[in-house]
Amino acid sequence: MDEQNTKKAIAYIFSGTGNTLTAGKMLQRSLPEYGISLDIYRITVDLEDLPDPNDYDIAFFAYPIHAFNSPQFFLHFVKHVPALHADKSGMPAYIFKTSGEPFRPNNASSYSLCRILRKKGFLPASDMHMLMPYNIMFRYPDAMAKQMYIHTRHMAEVLAEKAGEDLIEKPSFNPVTVIWAYLLRLQWFGAWVNGPLIKAKADQCTGCGKCVRSCPTHNISMVQKNVHGEVKILPKFGGKCTMCMCCTMDCPTGAVNPGFLTPWKVNGEWDFEKLMADDSIPDNWTDNENAKYFKLFRKYYRNN
Ligand SMILES: Cc1cc2nc3c(=O)[nH]c(=O)nc-3n(C[C@H](O)[C@H](O)[C@H](O)COP(=O)(O)O)c2cc1C
Repeated sequence: MDEQNTKKAIAYIFSGTGNTLTAGKMLQRSLPEYGISLDIYRITVDLEDLPDPNDYDIAFFAYPIHAFNSPQFFLHFVKHVPALHADKSGMPAYIFKTSGEPFRPNNASSYSLCRILRKKGFLPASDMHMLMPYNIMFRYPDAMAKQMYIHTRHMAEVLAEKAGEDLIEKPSFNPVTVIWAYLLRLQWFGAWVNGPLIKAKADQCTGCGKCVRSCPTHNISMVQKNVHGEVKILPKFGGKCTMCMCCTMDCPTGAVNPGFLTPWKVNGEWDFEKLMADDSIPDNWTDNENAKYFKLFRKYYRNN
């Protein structure tokens, strides 16, 4: 593809535990086939290097579903994205989101996002729902995680093709699901309350500071604490938590307990490369007779 035929795209991605970013990287690999190069901007509270969408031809907005909604932190961020100038107005904004489950209550999660994007001059052009293993509640079987990864890669290829062909699929929302999602915004309040309740277990925490560096809202600082007569440097959690689970999931020693979500704690990053390389792990778990709960996902995989 010569430079004249290359379109420039920007993806604004919020990702707590990496699933949505993984999907974004899949998209980044698929887009060049359609003459589109993609810059990825991972959203944090720092806005200094925020790319201006007016420098691009296409935009992508991506987030993990939290309690059937877009995370509040993500919506606040989108409000900071510069509005489009008159000559760029109507630029397609392709939305993709990841979540652990395919069920209908998740379908209205982009409602507020679309409203904000329209006000800024974007044309919401998709609301693609990709599945990735949960980062909360319980750990998915490896075979399920593998199936999700492979299918999300396929979805990323489909999304790249849509963008390449300027296909606009205006998102539409069922009013009942929108109301349901609004009610579940209680989770936003829960995130603030829960933030200061997050604790790192003193006997397990090594003070490595990984949680501090990776927290997208800069909610964690290292402080000196006296533990049984010994001074230790331990993380302290504040009130800006967005409940993305990054600190809990990625802690190398599993020391972080996420407040009232501790019974639902999942620790340990997914190593998708390892799952993909292991041929003994099947990749069609939802068809398996032992799939139990995951049999409910069959409809999603049949229809997408
Ligand atoms: C606080 C919280 C709420 C969540 N709520 C939902 C939900 O309502 N529906 C769902 O299917 N998945 C839900 N999930 C799972 C995430 O959407 C899923 O793990 C997602 O892929 C995480 O993406 P990330 O790694 O980019 O942060 C929730 C996760 C968290 C941490």
